Amino acid sequence: MTAPAPIAMLAELTYRCPLSCPYCSNPVEMAAREKEISTELWVDVFRQAAGLGVLQLHLSGGEPASRRDLVDLVAGARDAGLYTNLITSAIGLTQRRLAELDAAGLDHVQLSLQGTDADMADRIGGYNGGFKRKMQAAAWIVEAGFPLTLNAVVHRQNLHQLPEAIEMAVEMKARRIEVAIVQFHGWAMLNRSAMMPTRAQADEASRVVAEARKRLKGQLVIDYVPADYHGDYPKRCMGGWGLSGLNVTPDGLVLPCHAAQTIPNLVFDNVADKPLSDIWYHGGAFNAYRGEDWMQEPCKSCDRRKLDFGGCRCQAMAIAGDPAATDPTCIKSPLHSRMQELAQGFSTDDTAELVYRKSP
Ligand code: SF4
Ligand code: FES
Repeated sequence: MTAPAPIAMLAELTYRCPLSCPYCSNPVEMAAREKEISTELWVDVFRQAAGLGVLQLHLSGGEPASRRDLVDLVAGARDAGLYTNLITSAIGLTQRRLAELDAAGLDHVQLSLQGTDADMADRIGGYNGGFKRKMQAAAWIVEAGFPLTLNAVVHRQNLHQLPEAIEMAVEMKARRIEVAIVQFHGWAMLNRSAMMPTRAQADEASRVVAEARKRLKGQLVIDYVPADYHGDYPKRCMGGWGLSGLNVTPDGLVLPCHAAQTIPNLVFDNVADKPLSDIWYHGGAFNAYRGEDWMQEPCKSCDRRKLDFGGCRCQAMAIAGDPAATDPTCIKSPLHSRMQELAQGFSTDDTAELVYRKSP
């Protein structure tokens, strides 16, 4: 198929992070600081991305504020004409640095929330005193006038705090909250037993979100990523493989999604070796699962195939051992009941300890 131009790029600036969240989607093997690409190369990539059609740039990590050149990177992205969104834990952001980011043209801040109180947030983030610092930084972010989105990853250990998280977003004058039930990719795969929500929790989360959406209409936008292990149809992951977004890792690899390195047969190109447009249009990894030609039954003849493009390739790899299989979340997958058994088993394991992410 002829690929459309990408709309969004996720730039994972570094895998370094002061927090150690067990739900992290970064890979278990992370590129070290010495392998991170330079300021100049990032800015060149931003220019190439804008030339390719990208409109929104999400600056992420790890913790993007761990890069000393963050302000220069934001300025470079704005010069390239990109809308810039900083995805941060806010640890490492001072009032002065926020003012510099503002002056450099940063458009939006997305702040992660590990819990609604210090006990929960510091335990999940693995960082004592982190919640207090985050709340202080949140106040500075709002004071500086940045539009704010809260990003609450919820799981078995903190789902009871969801109503409070939504209230916090209102109190903090956030415009949006993204409620994401933990997705098991990368490091999070090590924590399926400790974090898998129960079916009752997953259903309750959907109810809470539906009620809050109605009540807060016009005041707060609520994005919601439901629990896919408990679902009946998969999500359209990444808006469809190679159709609307791309990721660049700290060492310059260009991926069709943040977890694509879990698919063993794919070869990824590096921005240091090839132009971004070549990689997007002609790269082997991008063309492997683009469109529908690669599909097997039941997706191949399913009338939902243009809606969800067969779901998530990384999940098909993780559960079915075949990245071209139907996402086992789907009720039509032969592995659907296996997926539900897994969910049931993991969600009732009360002995599992959290495995904290390690920074490279
Ligand atoms: Fe989507 Fe494939 Fe399931 Fe149809 S069979 S709903 S295309 S995942
Ligand atoms: Fe890779 Fe869904 S996370 S396609």
